[in-house]
Amino acid sequence: MNILAIESSCDDTGVAIVKDGREVLSNVVASQVPEHILYGGVVPEIASRRHCESISAVCQKALDDAGLTLKDLDAIAVTYAPGLIGALLVGVNFAKAYAMARGLPLVPVHHMRGHIAANYIAFPALEPPFCCLVVSGGHSLIVDVAGYTDMRILGTTRDDAAGEAFDKCARALGLGYPGGPIIDKMSKEGNPKAVRFPRARVKDTLDFSFSGLKTAVVRYAESSEDDIKDITASFQAAVVDVLVSHTFKAARERGVKQVLVAGGVAANSGLKNAMTEKGKRTGIAVSVPPMVLCTDNAAMIAAAAYYNYDKYLTHDLRLDCKASEPIGV
Ligand code: KG4
Ligand code: ZN
Repeated sequence: MNILAIESSCDDTGVAIVKDGREVLSNVVASQVPEHILYGGVVPEIASRRHCESISAVCQKALDDAGLTLKDLDAIAVTYAPGLIGALLVGVNFAKAYAMARGLPLVPVHHMRGHIAANYIAFPALEPPFCCLVVSGGHSLIVDVAGYTDMRILGTTRDDAAGEAFDKCARALGLGYPGGPIIDKMSKEGNPKAVRFPRARVKDTLDFSFSGLKTAVVRYAESSEDDIKDITASFQAAVVDVLVSHTFKAARERGVKQVLVAGGVAANSGLKNAMTEKGKRTGIAVSVPPMVLCTDNAAMIAAAAYYNYDKYLTHDLRLDCKASEPIGV
């Protein structure tokens, strides 16, 4: 079954074709980062306009790369939530047009469920149940993935998401945008133990809180002569510490033997190393998808759509977008 998926929830226009949920035939991403860099963050109106301009060409490239035409497709999938509403609308309307023109089923996909499904592409033998740490620019979630479409939130953020903490911290330190990859790179040359930044715990829950950490880092940097690389490495260590400990606590509590990671922050080398190390110490299998599948892309949306379709989770042409929408209970 060939699914063409469209992803336009933020600043990447992505179109991919995936066979049977696991085999990527094409995966095209047109990034807008160079333009948003000028403003130090994503400008929603610019994002919508760029999606409009590039979506036709990105779709055509995805078909060409796969060596297919619209006649070879079996379903159209699209990210309908959560995200920037104007950006989502472009993808959803384009998907509807394809579905209507070819008489194909339309499969809506929750963006964060897409991030989780990136793991089905990266690890062809992977099957639920597992616990997944989903960390992106807008979300930090620990999700109990009991089945392909059966998910429960075990922990979430009380304020800033992990990626947001990286981005805000980098901006406050004058390091540029997007903050995650910049801090990751600088941290490799810094000492993560140089400064002991706070590890916030929310009593009796697996929830996260990162806004206090950002403030602590900025205050410290203002009055310190430390090498900025030591400060970024210490900040990253504080974020990673909490993400890893909560995720493994969740896995232990659920009696789950597999831990996966998803979302843009999963590309972080410090997080990947710490997860892998803790997995070895606890006997829990840890897998982190390659970077290209961690950040926003449409292949992950097609993978999630395959399992939604299997459960008849399709929608008619009245499908609407939602800026926010829970991933599960
Ligand atoms: O999943 P994603 O591509 O888009 C959203 O759905 O938000 O995640 C983007 C986030 C940004 O906050 C970015 O700074 C962060 O992922 N990110 C990283 C790294 N690469 C991207 N954070 C830490 N380390 C990285 N290497
Ligand atoms: Zn994302």
